[in-house]
Amino acid sequence: MNWFITDTGDCQSLNFQAWQPIQPYRLYRFLTELDDILHEIEDDRQRLEAIAPRVCEFLETATWLDTAYVPPDPQRGCSVSNLYTEPNYPLTVQLVSWHPGAKSTIHNHATWGLVAMLRGCERNRFWRRTTGDGIEEVGDRIVCAGEVITFSPGAIHQIEVFGDEPTISFNLYGETDFPRRFQFDAIAQTAENF
Ligand SMILES: [Fe+2]
Repeated sequence: MNWFITDTGDCQSLNFQAWQPIQPYRLYRFLTELDDILHEIEDDRQRLEAIAPRVCEFLETATWLDTAYVPPDPQRGCSVSNLYTEPNYPLTVQLVSWHPGAKSTIHNHATWGLVAMLRGCERNRFWRRTTGDGIEEVGDRIVCAGEVITFSPGAIHQIEVFGDEPTISFNLYGETDFPRRFQFDAIAQTAENF
């Protein structure tokens, strides 16, 4: 299954049409089409419905990603490899790996996001804002290799490895609106920019 998480933490199924690329579907072709989609479509969910099938085809073609993977750092519990960047490039294209037992902060991304699981399983927990900087947990979803989970800019989540094997995922994010990006403390009911 593939998912779309709303600003209020609602987990909805994301349906998209299969799509056939010009073979081979190289990273530069994918990134060029990504630019075109972002130029032509303004709605975040519709963008993700257009981007997701292209991500799936890219991941099928890009067997070289196996060698781009970096094992998770034992101290931080994760690793991040940027697959493409250039000065002032506004998008984030990464391979991310988490060590079993590791978990992220509770955060939003302040832009649309897409995570395609390549190996292992992640448990996503979802929150929604209440009053002030307060949040309350509203649900969770386990996402495993072969599945895609997408996020609206205000979606608040925390991920942790589900199971005993490290996770590897392909992560894609739009242009971050930094003043709207927060890490949350669910106990203290506080939020801070990061
Ligand atoms: Fe995240």
